[in-house]
Amino acid sequence: MNDVTFIVQPGGSLSGTVRVPGDKSISHRAVMLASLAEGSSEVRGFLTGEDCLCTMNAFRAMGVQIEQPEPARLRVHGVGLHGLRQPAAALDLGNSGTSMRLMAGLLAAQQFPTTLVGDESLSRRPMRRIVEPLRSMGARIDTTEKNTAPLRIHPAPGGLKAIRYASPVASAQVKSGILLAGLYAAGRTEVTEPEASRDHTERMLRAFGVEVEAEAGRAALRGGQALAAADIDVPADISSATFFMLGAAIVPGSELLLRDVGVNPTRTGVIEILRRMGAEIELRNPRQFGGEPVADLLVRGRPLRGIAVDKALVAAAIDEFPAVFIAAACAAGETVVSGAEELRVKESDRIQAMCDGLNALGVTAEGRPDGARIVGGRLWGGTVDSRGDHRVAMSFAIAGLRAEQPIRILDCANVNTSFPGFAVLAAGAGLGIQVHS
Ligand code: S3P
Repeated sequence: MNDVTFIVQPGGSLSGTVRVPGDKSISHRAVMLASLAEGSSEVRGFLTGEDCLCTMNAFRAMGVQIEQPEPARLRVHGVGLHGLRQPAAALDLGNSGTSMRLMAGLLAAQQFPTTLVGDESLSRRPMRRIVEPLRSMGARIDTTEKNTAPLRIHPAPGGLKAIRYASPVASAQVKSGILLAGLYAAGRTEVTEPEASRDHTERMLRAFGVEVEAEAGRAALRGGQALAAADIDVPADISSATFFMLGAAIVPGSELLLRDVGVNPTRTGVIEILRRMGAEIELRNPRQFGGEPVADLLVRGRPLRGIAVDKALVAAAIDEFPAVFIAAACAAGETVVSGAEELRVKESDRIQAMCDGLNALGVTAEGRPDGARIVGGRLWGGTVDSRGDHRVAMSFAIAGLRAEQPIRILDCANVNTSFPGFAVLAAGAGLGIQVHS
């Protein structure tokens, strides 16, 4: 089924102006909150990646009418906090951890049972981190013995109770799942975390009229607040823009403009990391899309140097490490990543997938439990297995710009989960990429 291969010719550079598709995190939340709101909301710039389509289909299956007059424009007819209906079948959330963990919180509070299933990768990912705090709110959720999906969610007799939860992991999915459950709980629900994870849920809840207390590493809300319909403009996804930033950064002399990129400070770790490696990245025309900061990014390629990536930047760059590993391979000297053990439980084990792929291209890269050591040098070419991980696939595609032979990347169908049209956009900017399926 997953038989898409990318073949990338070596060399070249990226140039021009690119607008990558809408932010995945924000698109999921827009569908969820608009569905729970009273009245109709418009979502513009919605990401039509498979992950967000899974969320949209799940809400449709629970009785929410969602019109899609254009691919990236939705009109969501909210049903209110208590208007969802029992779906006829299990909700299939594909590859999407965000859909599963956020919806676990929301659905734990409903008066009907649901079952959440996912693909092979999602079915391996840890769910205890969300199920445990929800259980302490009174939720009834069954998992497999390994604490993985399918999640079978039963109505909680007497409803949910509010909690104060100190999360052991910095995870926006966990925080958001608990906050969504907290919307239905009696009292005030609070989540603290060891590092500040992305705060799109908090910002968007406010846009829908909910009072939320939020500061770095802490978020809280009172249950029972109704959501009022709101129109949402989704910024371009900084995580998708990252592949283009990387492409411009690793080829000295390149110049590329990325338009309308979300630059929420909980997401901009990659800009800081690439800058510390020597890339020149300028934020132009800063503005707001609703409650989210946006800017155009001008990236100029300069010779890169290896760094020890500051642990304090890990949470704000968590999805960007596959790209950081490629930047490290193209930099002079050694790069060390640490404090990033979460990479082991993403869509793939990204430390292993990236080190194996870099080794296959002739680069010295050693995985460690919480990161890796990568020695910059020549990238030959060869065959890399993306392990069905969209961000691993796109990172190795961009590496072709600095390779000496073609790179063949296997198992790339899941690029469509977050970045439909990646290959066409990248080819238009100058990457010698072909897609074979
Ligand atoms: C996301 C949170 C992060 C991130 C994922 C999207 C979200 O996951 O890696 O791609 O939208 O809340 P964790 O919560 O597991 O860190």
